[in-house]
Amino acid sequence: MEIKKKSFIETYGCQMNFSDSEIVASILEKLNYEPTTDIKAADLILLNTCSIRDNAEQRVRNRLNELHALKRKHPGLVIGLLGCMAERLKDKLLEEERHIDLIVGPDGYRQLPQLLEQVESGQKAINVLLSADETYADINPVRTGGSGVTAFISIMRGCENFCAYCVVPYTRGKERSRNPQTIVKEAFELFEQGFREITLLGQNVNSYRWEDNGISIDFPALLEEVASVNPLLRVRFATSHPKDISDDLLEVIASHENICKSIHLPIQSGSTHMLEMMKRSYSRDCYMDRIAAIRRIIPGCAVTTDIIAGFCSETEEDHQHTISAMREVGYDYAYMFKYSERPNTIAAKKYPDDVPEEVKSRRLDEIIGLQQELSLKSNKREVGKEFVVLAEGVSKRSDQQLFGRTSQNKVVVFQRDAFKPGDYVKVKIVSCTAATLRGELVL
Ligand code: SAH
Ligand code: SF4
Ligand code: F3S
Repeated sequence: MEIKKKSFIETYGCQMNFSDSEIVASILEKLNYEPTTDIKAADLILLNTCSIRDNAEQRVRNRLNELHALKRKHPGLVIGLLGCMAERLKDKLLEEERHIDLIVGPDGYRQLPQLLEQVESGQKAINVLLSADETYADINPVRTGGSGVTAFISIMRGCENFCAYCVVPYTRGKERSRNPQTIVKEAFELFEQGFREITLLGQNVNSYRWEDNGISIDFPALLEEVASVNPLLRVRFATSHPKDISDDLLEVIASHENICKSIHLPIQSGSTHMLEMMKRSYSRDCYMDRIAAIRRIIPGCAVTTDIIAGFCSETEEDHQHTISAMREVGYDYAYMFKYSERPNTIAAKKYPDDVPEEVKSRRLDEIIGLQQELSLKSNKREVGKEFVVLAEGVSKRSDQQLFGRTSQNKVVVFQRDAFKPGDYVKVKIVSCTAATLRGELVL
C-alpha cells in the first residue's frame, strides 16, 4: 500500500473560507493525502487566508514566520497559501515569503492536483485566476472538525457590490449562483447523515438567481425548497444586504417553522452620509424601513449586524448616528470593527484614511460597550420564555451540560440528561449573561 502524505489546513476569515476549506479537503482526499490535526506531522500545510482587514493579514504573516521554523526542521514540508490573501497579493507573496511553495486563489482549487505535482517536481506553483462560473457545485465537501449537527452550504460566490471599503470583490471576483439542484441535494444528504442545521452562504444571498430553461429561481424560492427537505432540518442564511431584503423573503421565513428567526443585516454605519461614501446604496431611513418590515412580518425575529467605526472623514456626529441606530434597532448581537484601509479599494483611492487611530479606538469601544448592554437586554427579555433548542455539543464548563441554539441563534446551556447533540430539546430560560442563556428542561 502506498504511504499517504498528511495534510493540515488552517482557516482564517469568514464562513465562506471555512466552507472552501471543506472543498479543498475533499479535493486532497482524492489525492494521496489524509488529514491530520497535528501540524508537526504534516507534509502539506495550507493556510486559507483572509484579507478583509490588515490585522487578518498580519495574523497570517505571523503564522508564516512560525511555519518557517517548522520547515527548517522538516525540509520536505510543503507550505501553501489559499484564499483571499493569495488572490490579493499573488506572486508578490512568493517574493516576500520565500518558504511558500504554493499559492492558490479562491477559484483555483480544482487545479490543486496539478499544482501540487509541480511543487513536487521542485518548482513553485501559483494559480490566482478568478472565474466567472466556478461554484464547485459538484464537489462534495468533507465536513471537517464540526459537530456533525450544523453545516455550511455555499450557494453563491463572489460579490460585485464594490462597497468602497471592501476588498472582497477583488479577491472573490464576479458574483455567481450555484445550481439549486446541487444545493438541495447537498442539504438532503446532510440531513440523511444526521445534520440538523444548515447555513446557506453567500456575500449577498438576496441576489441569488438561477436561470434554467426560462425558469428563474430567486433566493426566497431557493430557501423554500431547502426548507422543504425536512421539517427537522433547520435552515439559516448569511449574509443579507439591506438594499434588497424583500418582503417576499421575510414572508417565506415567517411561514416556515424550520427557517430560523434570525437575520444578519449589516448596517455598517447609522449615518446616511457615511453610507453614501461607503457606496452601500441604502440610507439610514431605508435600512430602518427594512427593520420595521422584519418586526411586522416576523415578530420575535433576532436581528444582528456588522458595524465599522472610523470610516474616512467620519465625524463625531456621524458616530452618534451609529450609536442611535444601534439603540433604535436594539441589535441582539453585532460584529464590530475599526475601519482598516485596504489597498486598491475605492475608499483607498478616493478618500484619506483620516480618522486618528485613537479616535477610531474610542468610537469602537463605545460601540462595543453599547452592544454589550443591548445583548444583555435582549437576553434578559428571554428569561421566563420557552424555546426549542437544537443541541450542538457538550458544554465546555461541564460534561453534565449541553449547549445549543434557539431559532433566534442564541446560545443556551442546559442539563444533559439523556439528550445528545442533534436532539431538539424544549427548555425554559431561567437566567442569562450578555453571551449565554441558561435553560431548564421542560418535560
Ligand atoms: N458581504 C457582507 C460582509 C462581508 S465582510 C456584507 O455586505 O455585509 C464582513 C464585514 O467586515 C463587513 O460587513 C464589514 O463590517 C467588515 N469590513 C469589511 N471591510 C472592512 C474594512 N476595510 N475595514 C473594517 N471592516 C471591514
Ligand atoms: Fe464587501 Fe459590500 Fe460585497 Fe459585502 S456586499 S462583500 S461589504 S463589497
Ligand atoms: Fe476574508 Fe475573503 Fe471572507 S477577505 S472575510 S476570507 S471573503
